[in-house]
Amino acid sequence: MHRVEAQVAVVGAGAAGLHTALCAARQGAAVTLVSAMPLAGSSSYWAQGGLAAALAADDSPAAHLADTIVAGRGSVRESAARVLCDEAPAAVRDLQELGVAFDADRHGQLALGLEGGHSRRRVVHAGGAATGRRIIGELSALVAQDERIAVLESTRAARILTSDGAAVGVLLEDGTRIVAPAVVLATGGAAAMWSRTTNPIGATGGGLLLAFQAGARLADLELMQFHPTAVVGANGADGFLVTEAVRGEGAHLLDAAGERFVDELAPRDEVARAVQQQIDSSDASSVGLDMRHVDPALFPNVVGALRRAGIDPERELIPVAPAAHYMMGGVATDLHGRTSLRGLFAVGECSCTGLHGANRLASNSLSECFVFGERAARAAVQDAAPAARAAHLDRHDPAVGAPDELSAASRQALWRYAGLERDAEGLRTLARDEHLLVRLIATGALAREESRGAHRRLDFPQRDPALERHHVTLTESRGPTLENWS
Ligand code: SIN
Repeated sequence: MHRVEAQVAVVGAGAAGLHTALCAARQGAAVTLVSAMPLAGSSSYWAQGGLAAALAADDSPAAHLADTIVAGRGSVRESAARVLCDEAPAAVRDLQELGVAFDADRHGQLALGLEGGHSRRRVVHAGGAATGRRIIGELSALVAQDERIAVLESTRAARILTSDGAAVGVLLEDGTRIVAPAVVLATGGAAAMWSRTTNPIGATGGGLLLAFQAGARLADLELMQFHPTAVVGANGADGFLVTEAVRGEGAHLLDAAGERFVDELAPRDEVARAVQQQIDSSDASSVGLDMRHVDPALFPNVVGALRRAGIDPERELIPVAPAAHYMMGGVATDLHGRTSLRGLFAVGECSCTGLHGANRLASNSLSECFVFGERAARAAVQDAAPAARAAHLDRHDPAVGAPDELSAASRQALWRYAGLERDAEGLRTLARDEHLLVRLIATGALAREESRGAHRRLDFPQRDPALERHHVTLTESRGPTLENWS
């Protein structure tokens, strides 16, 4: 069995993983980065949205925070959101110093986009809607050049190694054993568990299961955000996300009669629900997104992808409907990425700091990867003191079991019973699914007996004031618990 020693092991090579690895290496740590997929397999690579940061003269972290709190529907953990909004401008500057070229306006200033729920223009992009691709490209090149970072490619984490109630390393599917006193999960989200999704196929919550099975606490798995404008049915492009930024530049949503029916820049839960209601109350499977009057030069890769799918967005409406997009829940962490299991950290979409509440504000997620990646790297290096490491060098590994396969039936069941609308009967069906993570999602959704943000219960249609700022947590040893994270 191959054995690798590191101070910090990072699992996942999307935006959060790459950045965490670079920040830990910057502090002198020996890092091992596990990358299951080629670059284009990570959700970050496909991210069309940008980084939300209060950079405009008329903006402030306080205004960004206020928008984040409103969008989050009474569930935002304010301390975490404050960290994000205060530190996002520095994260953008840090990325610029690392070589990321964000789009500029004609005066050479950063071009700031508008997206749903934002009261100001505050979203920076790179290459129009190719932000993820550009950032991942730059960071991957830096990681490859950094001699303190060893990259293990095309293999996955099979298990978190634990000893004396702490994470002490990672066992990989190929049998490699990474011994490290600090393990950072940056494994991305779970939206590809739903049959209709904007995410690449690998986004099936693998990191959540690793953490749960190692004894860490998960939170808010019922809070899946549905993006309102994913393409329907077009030649190979079903589920392709048309960025919210096109609505920021004036694109409209039109019903079957060609009428607008929603404020296109309202927070995402509201727009997605309005689109779904239009679809449910008609024979149509989509509504029309009209970007005919939007400058196509602003969104070259969106326009190109639509054309390849046989849709000309300069001349016709784009058929769109909601699709599962982003999990607000994840592995519960503090403000430094620490989970409830000593030595285990989580950052990016697989984590749950509570900052997104019940409905993430657009483009806060990439900012989160960089702000909390930096913080988690610092905490991981600090906690991975040499003395702590020495205590854990020789351990026996458990056998590596076959990973749980997620069947097409489970994915369809999630869409059907834990889609934009749910009720107890459907969720109880889901709670008997063969896949553990599906059962956990159902358990969380059953425990939240109210409607809030992305979670709409037909049998509990109102928001419950007693559940403001409450988060549904789950551990292997304890059933669902509602915790106040104020
Ligand atoms: C989008 O560009 O519409 C998606 C970005 C995000 O999820 O924040």
